[in-house]
Amino acid sequence: MKLRGVIAGVMLVPSVAMAWPWSTDMMNQPNIKPQEGTMAPFPTRSIPIQGLGPLVANREETREMVNPISATAESVKEGRVLYKIYCATCHGTTGNPADAPVGGKIGAIALNDDYVQQTMSEGWIWGTITFGSYVMPSYGVPRAREDSRGSNDLSVEERWHVVNYIKHGMVKDHAARTAAAK
Ligand code: HEC
Repeated sequence: MKLRGVIAGVMLVPSVAMAWPWSTDMMNQPNIKPQEGTMAPFPTRSIPIQGLGPLVANREETREMVNPISATAESVKEGRVLYKIYCATCHGTTGNPADAPVGGKIGAIALNDDYVQQTMSEGWIWGTITFGSYVMPSYGVPRAREDSRGSNDLSVEERWHVVNYIKHGMVKDHAARTAAAK
């Protein structure tokens, strides 16, 4: 009986101890709690944890974007792999939709011709991949199109790798492929 009383007493100690005037709670520190005070503005050039998501709202705004990833051999190689997975079914293995199973039927444009190679900006190609086009689905922003056709399968960097492949590897690949077929 006596022992039980002691145990019960000991078990009460922690809760009582917290109530002493000198006991403090680790939570109460001189820092700013969530929702407390005015939120400090983000430092300039800070980046969201998801990375540099599309900083643009639509394809129009991508036209002048500067490609941040230089067209190194690695980037072009990565872009080639992604292009074959995501684009070749419609635009052809090396940019000619006539080589693609469905490209000609749905009006996919040639990517290895002068229009894309000389005239189209890298930003616009990135923007087309990101937001899709009239028929083409989007690969960077799900539901970017009115009919909700699209995904976010390709990261920001992956889309630039594809751009690098189109601008710096595709024409060479197409020439090699055409030569091999002869
Ligand atoms: C489902 C078929 C399909 C796939 C897959 C596809 N495209 Fe397209 N793409 C099209 C069609 C069709 C057009 C032309 C009509 C339009 O603009 O929607 C086009 C147009 C384009 C244009 C030209 C846009 C313009 O302003 O004229 C570019 C650049 C392009 N695609 C790049 C790509 C890249 C890069 C990929 C892979 C990430 C890709 N496409 C995947 C069907 C596709």
